[in-house]
Amino acid sequence: MDKTRKLITLNEFIIMRQQEFPYAKGELSRLLTHIGLAAKIVSREVNMAGLADILGATGRINVQGEEVKKLDIFANEKFINAMFGSSEIAGMATEENPEIIADDTEMAKNAKYVLCLDPLDGSSNIDVNVSIGTIFSIYRRVSPRGHKPTEEDFMQEGTKQVAAGYIIYGSSTMLVYTTGHGVNGFTLDPSIGEFCLSHPNIKTPTNGKIYSVNEGNFHSFSNGIKKYIEYCKEQDKESGRPCTSRYIGSFVADFHRNLLKGGIYMYPATKKHPNGKLRLLYEANPMAFIIEQAGGLAVDQNGRRILDIKPTELHQRVPLFIGSRNMVEQVMQFIEQEDRLKPENHYD
Ligand code: AHG
Ligand code: MN
Ligand code: MN
Repeated sequence: MDKTRKLITLNEFIIMRQQEFPYAKGELSRLLTHIGLAAKIVSREVNMAGLADILGATGRINVQGEEVKKLDIFANEKFINAMFGSSEIAGMATEENPEIIADDTEMAKNAKYVLCLDPLDGSSNIDVNVSIGTIFSIYRRVSPRGHKPTEEDFMQEGTKQVAAGYIIYGSSTMLVYTTGHGVNGFTLDPSIGEFCLSHPNIKTPTNGKIYSVNEGNFHSFSNGIKKYIEYCKEQDKESGRPCTSRYIGSFVADFHRNLLKGGIYMYPATKKHPNGKLRLLYEANPMAFIIEQAGGLAVDQNGRRILDIKPTELHQRVPLFIGSRNMVEQVMQFIEQEDRLKPENHYD
């Protein structure tokens, strides 16, 4: 049999990789396995969303002041249940919960890990059958075991992440994750109900051709960003083509496409929203860990590495520039020249 074509399921892969951690006792492996399980449950619901009564808005507003769709709540609950069910989680912070969540059981209090979660990303796309996702990030707690976790456990720099990943509910469902030893992608085969290794050792192109930004906000961007976007539209001397603009409005989906094809995703600051829109803990940090592992870059609008930022608030936002190394470096040059050296021109 051709060994290169052997089917490897997510669970097999997780166990194989456990050996990369010298003193691993299987806790992280069990945790990742439970994420895969929750992903399958949510994937099933997402696929049924057009049929079931689960579709649509609840009329509630989440802690970020945005409308929450029913499927966000469903995904949030399923992941919370699956994670605490794994017995390996001391607590969770999710985009949908104002405070951290902890369980009172001895098992939870003794657990080693905490998890940050964006249960449903791209929620404005739920109603229209466009790809959405889930983003997760795992840290080793810093508070002593035997007690409930504290906010400090979640306020760690992204460099402290033990694992991070996302699930994209697209034309097929995929789970992509890293534990700091490269990035691997698994596609759900619904006929056998298993995630199968389909994208081993993902590397993102050093240079890309795709730029992804909500250009509806163009007039609110700084001059550096505006000039960079104009530059993306200019014709390339060699190919005679400008860059391609692609924006789905689901960060997971935009990120996933750019990861595989090469590109940059930007959610810059605006005058009104100086921290942009995306959340450091639930969106920027996990994706920054993945992009760096795939050979790309993730920085904020000051060119600061996302993974080095020390969080000060659970739900804090951060302007984000993430993707192919050359493109991220280039937009930073525009910002340096147009915004930092000429602060008076920052916004028109
Ligand atoms: P969420 O659905 O978790 O609130 O995240 C939405 C985010 C992200 O997925 C997407 O890239 C971005 O918001 C889109 O924002 P705009 O509509 O402002 O472009
Ligand atoms: Mn999101
Ligand atoms: Mn969300």
